[in-house]
Amino acid sequence: MIDKATVAQILDAADIVDVVSDFVSLKRRGANYVGLCPFHNEKTPSFSVSRAKGICHCFSCGKGGSPVNFIMEHEQLSYYEALKYLANKYHIEIHERELTDAEKLEQSDRESMLIINEAANKHFEDNLFNSADGRNIGLSYFNERGFSEQIIRRFHLGYSLDKRNDLFETLTSKGYNSKYLFETGLCIADDKGSGYDRFRGRVMFPVLNLAGKIIAFGGRTLKHDKAKYVNSPESLIYKKSNELYGLYQAKHAITKLDKCFLVEGYADVISMHQSGFENTVASSGTSLTEGQIRLIHRFTDNITVLYDGDAAGIKASLRSIDLLLAEGLNIKVLLLPDGDDPDSFSRKHSTSEIQNFIDSHEEDFIRFKIRILLQGCENDPIKRSEVITDVIKSISVIPFPINRSVYTQECSRLLDIDEQVLKTAVEKNILDARKKNYQKATDANIAAATSMPHPIENAADVATAPTDSNKRQNTETAAFATSEYDKLIHPHEENIIRYILKYGMSDFCDAIDENQQSIRLTLLEYIREELAIDDMKFSNHTFAMIYDMSCKLISEFKTSLTQFCRDIDTECDSIRENEISKIRQECQSLDEIDQRENKLNNEIAQYKESKIVEFRNNYLEKILCSCENDDIRKTALELVSEKHHLSKIHTKFYKIKTEFDRLVTLIPEAIYNWKSALILCQIKEIQKKLDSIKDDKAETESLLKRIQELFALRSQLAKYLGDRVVNPKI
Ligand code: CTP
Ligand code: MN
Repeated sequence: MIDKATVAQILDAADIVDVVSDFVSLKRRGANYVGLCPFHNEKTPSFSVSRAKGICHCFSCGKGGSPVNFIMEHEQLSYYEALKYLANKYHIEIHERELTDAEKLEQSDRESMLIINEAANKHFEDNLFNSADGRNIGLSYFNERGFSEQIIRRFHLGYSLDKRNDLFETLTSKGYNSKYLFETGLCIADDKGSGYDRFRGRVMFPVLNLAGKIIAFGGRTLKHDKAKYVNSPESLIYKKSNELYGLYQAKHAITKLDKCFLVEGYADVISMHQSGFENTVASSGTSLTEGQIRLIHRFTDNITVLYDGDAAGIKASLRSIDLLLAEGLNIKVLLLPDGDDPDSFSRKHSTSEIQNFIDSHEEDFIRFKIRILLQGCENDPIKRSEVITDVIKSISVIPFPINRSVYTQECSRLLDIDEQVLKTAVEKNILDARKKNYQKATDANIAAATSMPHPIENAADVATAPTDSNKRQNTETAAFATSEYDKLIHPHEENIIRYILKYGMSDFCDAIDENQQSIRLTLLEYIREELAIDDMKFSNHTFAMIYDMSCKLISEFKTSLTQFCRDIDTECDSIRENEISKIRQECQSLDEIDQRENKLNNEIAQYKESKIVEFRNNYLEKILCSCENDDIRKTALELVSEKHHLSKIHTKFYKIKTEFDRLVTLIPEAIYNWKSALILCQIKEIQKKLDSIKDDKAETESLLKRIQELFALRSQLAKYLGDRVVNPKI
């Protein structure tokens, strides 16, 4: 944990041009810098860096962000690792937050467990190479399997002697605490207060995390044991579902080749690496989890899954591939010849033979799935339609519309079904899933927002409570209503958040405080007041977080602004002093001195003003685009990066009135439009209700009356907007 002050210091020190220049050669272009994007291959530079904004952005692939983001993305680091990287670059000493007692205990437990795993593995490796049993049994087994000494050492393979408590005795006699032998699962406590070894007589495969620390072991028997493999139990340091075997050794190759091979077992990984395919990892026999997929996705978008040719489990495992599709990964499948797994296949063939086989047999996943599922049921219409439904499901989870549409076309061709039919089915699946998600996330928010009290009295009672007679219809239309709500409201919320991110702390308008004193409000404060009048909230969770965080930053901002103004004053004073002494030396007459000093004062005032505007406008953007929370950071970046486009329209002949200049009209309009959309939502809901209760005259009349009230409310709101005077900036 890095304390807040240090984080601020790091973010402050990190200069985006400087940070990016370590990896990309940049050329100055106008106010910005450009270079070749490091995140994708390109010939003409579309990677642009703005020093003033502290942001970089690729206009071709969309990647980039603040210095932290850039480092996270480029170096594949976590948020804290990236901060540490920057701290190191700028020689900032990191003050880590004091850990709580509970955290200290947990940390020292974790460390102790990692240390004991390390010691155990040293022992296993030592056994393998230096003990008689290790060499005769363990090492000769590995040699039989064709593992070279080099690969054995690279994967730190070892041997656990076939004795009851060899490891327990060795490590405890060296002073290691038996508590951690038990907690890592290396040993199991017996009732005599001692312990015995879990992995007796097995060859050992240590599992390394991304940092290269040993977090678990797999031990393979060399006899006819019931369990071929025994694995470490889950523990404080080992969550099986979040690890991939071989990733530590594979990560550089995966990044370099921008591709990952996914296999099943320990031996598969090792043989593939030995054959030169170092971008191979294993899920270790279990079906893939989301955690593992994210892990791969940090390094590449492209995965090829290797299947044993005769695996009966192919069909069963197809489902888990949908998880990969949903994560936005490009998936291919390589079906190995009958009887071979990746291990045996890669040992039978030379590297170039394997590469040729991959090149000619790698198949797109959806196509593979259709082929496998259709086998044997070409003439069975019921089975065929099941297959189609299944394939449609897979296509529906793909997050990118273009990819979906390509697959839909392909699928239509392969299955000989009308493309439009498939398209409709896919769209329906997507809609259903969205409704489900959306409803979960916003049920509570919608309840709050649709009953929003309005500026005009009595507005609250327009909120519609379902009566018994139409309850059923209501629940049926509820899902539709929410997606419509989303469609209508979301753009307005997004618009406001964008303004807040870009200009939230800018000096906006006059107001009167409770003591009848005139004060200046920032744009954010103005928006906050406006939203408070009608108790409006953001229904989108990320927007709500961004808004809350921004509001919380107001007082901190004001302190920083005061300090900033003081600093800039000092700077201006020293510039002035310098220049004035020059002027007095150079000038021949008092008039000339007056003239030049006036000019100087004007220039300094302008300089100061522009610096302050820049400070205000960058304040929220800088913090939120470097926020620890992934959702906030990503959304903030998306919303602000579009502003770099603007400079393309500028010409030196016109001064185009910028968005910033027009904020005084844009902001009240944006808020009005949002409010108006909320009312429109209510109107639509009542209209829907009207359609469903044609017979009930009284009810119809009362609903019609409500609609009229709502329309009136809207036009009053419009007038209210027209009347409202926002004092322009001085
Ligand atoms: N596995 C496991 N426990 C088992 C069986 C399998 O953890 N009882 C995991 C191991 O990670 C193993 C993988 O599932 O590597 C694949 O299992 P399997 O195909 O049975 O093993 P192989 O890797 O082919 O092992 P070997 O070639 O050594 O027989
Ligand atoms: Mn095998």
